[in-house]
Amino acid sequence: MPPRLVADKHEIKRIRTYINGLDENVQGGIPEGHITLISGAAGTMKSSITFNVLYHEAVNGSNGLYISLEQSAESLLNHMTNMDYDFSKINLVVVKDLAELSAKMQVINRSKGSIFIVDVGCVRKEIRDIQTDNNKSWLNVIKNVIKKVSVESNTRVFVLDSLSALYVLSRFENPRIELFMIFEFLRDMNITSFLISEMPLDGSKFSEYEIEDFLADAIIVLKLTPFRRQVVREISVVKMRTTACNNDIFSLEFKNGQFYALYGGQNPLL
Ligand SMILES: Nc1ncnc2c1ncn2[C@@H]1O[C@H](COP(=O)(O)OP(=O)(O)OP(=O)(O)O)[C@@H](O)[C@H]1O
Ligand SMILES: [Mg+2]
Repeated sequence: MPPRLVADKHEIKRIRTYINGLDENVQGGIPEGHITLISGAAGTMKSSITFNVLYHEAVNGSNGLYISLEQSAESLLNHMTNMDYDFSKINLVVVKDLAELSAKMQVINRSKGSIFIVDVGCVRKEIRDIQTDNNKSWLNVIKNVIKKVSVESNTRVFVLDSLSALYVLSRFENPRIELFMIFEFLRDMNITSFLISEMPLDGSKFSEYEIEDFLADAIIVLKLTPFRRQVVREISVVKMRTTACNNDIFSLEFKNGQFYALYGGQNPLL
């Protein structure tokens, strides 16, 4: 179902970014149903920031889906454990075989929110099991997972880590058309989506084909910027439809289990 038309701006529901200092600068969060590109070079905390959204949504009782095509579920979760997330507050459902997904969804503790994690090994296994290995397989399996969890578990937030890995795995023949169809699919599902996009180090573009920039409802950019001999993490909102947003570049910090977008931060930005 595509988003409904609202008569009053207060009816627009928003999903928090859970970055202190950033939500306040985007009218409280990202409009529900938006597709957001999270663009950044290697190690800019793209995975951490999106996982952080799913974690806090789950603590508040909502369900989320994280499809990790770059890292195994174990590698992702070890990173998150090192960041001190308390997984006893949520249901963490690592799906290793899609044939078990429905059964797993039925036995979860419904008094807590859940994060479903599907990784590259799981998708590869499904492609082997259904024996239809062609350049559409990866995308079809991913679409089926999104449909299944959103219908059977009312999952409202989705992370694809990463769009760049999907390009490599699914060998698009006509990227512009195929990308258009992916965005259409996500809009039809009305699922708030975060698509992680690898950005070149020089920051010359936010996405591989650049059409993603126009199709996306929002773009958040993460950077590591050298300042004298130190490196500062930075975050900025390039665009966010339906939102009066502050496009300033903030310093990004993670401390005591929370993300912060700050003016200045560790080093003043000259
Ligand atoms: N408490 C912490 N525990 C683990 N890593 C941390 C912590 N604080 C900061 N980091 C940094 O987070 C970075 C990795 O974060 P993350 O994996 O989210 O980045 P990414 O942009 O997804 O990286 P990649 O491009 O490899 O996918 C590491 O470089 C690490 O130094
Ligand atoms: Mg990552």
